[in-house]
Amino acid sequence: MFSKKLKWWQSGAVYQVYPKSFLDTDGSGTGDIKGITSKLDYLHGLGVNAVWITPVYPSPMVDNGYDISDYTAIGENFGTMNDFDELMREAGRRGIKIVMDLVFNHCSDKHKWFRESKSSRNNPKSDWFIWRDPKPNGEPPTNWRSIFGGSAWEFSHERQQYYLHTFAKEQPDLNWANPEVRYALYDAAKFWLDKGVGGFRVDAITYIKKPEVFADGKPDAEDGTVNVHTMTANQPGILDYLHEFKREVEGDNDIFTVGEANGVKADELALWVGEEGVFDMLFEFSHVTLPLGKAEIWCHPVDWKLTDLKRAISDSQKATETNGWYPVFFENHDQPRSVNHFFTEGADPVKAAKVLGAVLLTMRGTPFIYQGEELGMTNYDWRTIDEVDDIQTKGQYELALKEGFTPEEAMKFVRYFTRDNARTPMQWTAGKNAGFTAGESWLPVNKNHITVNAETEMRDSKSVLSWYKRLLELRRTNHVLTMGSYREILTDSEEVFAFVREYEGHEVVTAANFSMNAVKLPESLTGRKVILSNEKEIDMEELKPLEARIYQ
Ligand code: NOJ
Repeated sequence: MFSKKLKWWQSGAVYQVYPKSFLDTDGSGTGDIKGITSKLDYLHGLGVNAVWITPVYPSPMVDNGYDISDYTAIGENFGTMNDFDELMREAGRRGIKIVMDLVFNHCSDKHKWFRESKSSRNNPKSDWFIWRDPKPNGEPPTNWRSIFGGSAWEFSHERQQYYLHTFAKEQPDLNWANPEVRYALYDAAKFWLDKGVGGFRVDAITYIKKPEVFADGKPDAEDGTVNVHTMTANQPGILDYLHEFKREVEGDNDIFTVGEANGVKADELALWVGEEGVFDMLFEFSHVTLPLGKAEIWCHPVDWKLTDLKRAISDSQKATETNGWYPVFFENHDQPRSVNHFFTEGADPVKAAKVLGAVLLTMRGTPFIYQGEELGMTNYDWRTIDEVDDIQTKGQYELALKEGFTPEEAMKFVRYFTRDNARTPMQWTAGKNAGFTAGESWLPVNKNHITVNAETEMRDSKSVLSWYKRLLELRRTNHVLTMGSYREILTDSEEVFAFVREYEGHEVVTAANFSMNAVKLPESLTGRKVILSNEKEIDMEELKPLEARIYQ
């Protein structure tokens, strides 16, 4: 069932860097590529073998780099192509591959392709984007609402037409129906392949294929609009484009691709990943969106149960059991910090971070660690909307006010869901700006950097960082964790997430207590040998509150 030989990215672990917030080496207040290079020893010491960097291309930074104005260059704010080449070289020397982010559903409205396309109705690139005439009354072609809020259509005076933007109006959607567009994008990917990158994370991929007919949808908001996601995500025929992408870009290269696939369900995974699929792995979001309730309009926490989380992960494990490979993640630059996401306020954040770390790093698949997750970084306590930078949060805040929430209520939601929770500066030291910048940081620094920081945690064998290092080492040395099958146990427990990994008769068992209660263990576990726990005193009969334990 399992191929005996795993690929480099299946037996390793990926670290995600959000460059703007990682490390600033020139005092500008925003992070840069040199900052990543200077921390390669740290990443090597942590034990990862790939680093996915979110976009570092030239960009007006309306969406922090996800609005690209040149696919084959480096943005000045991040450094130079020389800096990038140096990063590649230095990473290579440490056995680390650099993984790029391909943003192919849309580009920046400042990209020369869009400027040309917008200039008239009959230029050579006139149909490189999604242009439509207004409704007879001059209104946008449909009532679709962009993911960042407001109409998904923007009017261009030059063309007297609207263009579609799934995200911000500064991020026009590319027209994948036009082969010239697709091949221009593949060429951009090949540029980075020639530089030797180890793979690609492919952004917002479920939106590239547009529906045959553009029609109004049933409104899901007071203003009569419907989320564009409902109308355009995962359209029939999308996989044809992606098979072409796979053939043209991945080919026989020894790289991995991971698609960001909002809207793909666990039971569809088999079509998307594996030999017959289009990507090596797929980020689907069932396990991180479940606690968020009315996610279509906007997210706010509702009651959720541990069994929901376990079911979501186990379903995806099942779907990729014999076909494809699972990218395990709890955080990225769009999600709240996982300690806040999956635990109640009173939970000890260090123990909670270790509980999640145990699941993340012993699960079947390739773990993706988001910067600062290995330190146990937590959400920031946002006071006013002015402190927030994220374009999506601002749009959702506006929508909340329109929907009748008071500014205080809207801020309560913002505090919980804003993507800036994941984007506050990486906490390197207990010093000024957490050692992130000598200048003025673009986002506030979390006050807890006094204790939650890499320098302090490096010296503390009980820190979250030390726990991550130990677990990553275990993954490297114990093949059961990379090769083994996955079987959930204690499935009905609302307190413990437990599973067995098995390979050639050897087993490793993880039991992670997400609750604040001590939990009695079944006999099947009490006789096993404990190889790791986040508690010093071990009671074989029960797990302490927030205890994570690994057995052999
Ligand atoms: C998903 C990215 O992760 C997010 O940060 C970005 O805003 C959107 N795609 C648009 O590119």
